[in-house]
Amino acid sequence: MDFRRIARRRLPSPVFHYLDGGADDEWTLKRNTKAFDDYEILPAQLSDVSNIHLQSTLFGEKIDWPVMLSPTGASRLFHASGEPAVVRAAEKLGMVYGLSTLATTTIEDAAAAGNCPKMYQVYVLKDRGVTADMVARCKTSGYTALCLTVDTPVPGNRERDAVYGFSSGRLRLRSLPSWIRHADWLYRALIRKDLEMVNLATSDRPSQFDDMSLLDYFNSQLDRSLTWKDVEWLASIWDGPLVVKGVQTVADCRQAMNAGATAVMLSNHGGRQLEGAPAPVDCIADVADALHDKLEIICDGGIRRGTHIIKALALGANACSIGRAYLYPLAAGGEQGVIRGLTLLRTELERSLALMGCDSVAKLGTGFVRHRGRSH
Ligand code: LAC
Repeated sequence: MDFRRIARRRLPSPVFHYLDGGADDEWTLKRNTKAFDDYEILPAQLSDVSNIHLQSTLFGEKIDWPVMLSPTGASRLFHASGEPAVVRAAEKLGMVYGLSTLATTTIEDAAAAGNCPKMYQVYVLKDRGVTADMVARCKTSGYTALCLTVDTPVPGNRERDAVYGFSSGRLRLRSLPSWIRHADWLYRALIRKDLEMVNLATSDRPSQFDDMSLLDYFNSQLDRSLTWKDVEWLASIWDGPLVVKGVQTVADCRQAMNAGATAVMLSNHGGRQLEGAPAPVDCIADVADALHDKLEIICDGGIRRGTHIIKALALGANACSIGRAYLYPLAAGGEQGVIRGLTLLRTELERSLALMGCDSVAKLGTGFVRHRGRSH
């Protein structure tokens, strides 16, 4: 939350609120973190915790601890160093990095920025050719996993964006002083044209971010007619780990698996899409019960503390994924900020494992966690 406070100072207010905000009344956004409070950690004392093992695997790759970096749009909005800075931090901390279709760094440049396993998040767009092109580029660039986001048939109702004038393309008077205070940001956006969504741009389409034309283009390209058949299509053109991101129910996870997915991200898009969707942590137990040996389960949403990771893993997730939890540090301090934020999170995880008498993330299971409602 300290990183968030610094981010708020460093960013023009529309940009901060784009990062910080969620859909409608932000109930789901708040619930994502709050839901962790409904679980208690049950320690097993006087276990030998002289060595704590955080190593795990995800998508068939070794990782140093079971947290990955969610694909998030346009990192250069938040810091000039953008996605490559986050890739370098991921390499240093031994994590999987997720690159978004809406990134401000190309598939190839992100691949070259650091040697960590990478996941590319695609949208299946109306123009399937654009999606197929991106998949081919991921293969060439050595991405480990491909991820399809399924919770965005239409954009979510992000009211802060309308109020502060982020996505409307219209300058809001209330944001003018903030834009003026952050003239360096405007220089980057308007003169250096640093904020292009370079993976969507092709020779016959505009690639500039000015007046959000590419975001508008993207929104117009979202295909509302998408079904599980399209996941099958994606699986057929990608022969590696396939992740479906944005599901909450056992039924949808099963559909994902039947369509060829090897992993699911239990996620509500950081509370930015469907208001009223449940918190990912509350979805883990049922999905793990039904499918734990058939699918990798990733809990994406609301994670701010090491104990949140412990609760998610104990409930049955294979890994957690974080978005804002690395973007606030990015906005606050670039690459060093991200490294600092991730290190704090990892240290908390390690300390709490020792305190609960568990010397390895692999040993985390339902014996270590209890829903508060069931504790009496
Ligand atoms: C968002 C898009 C980029 O949540 O996924 O803003």
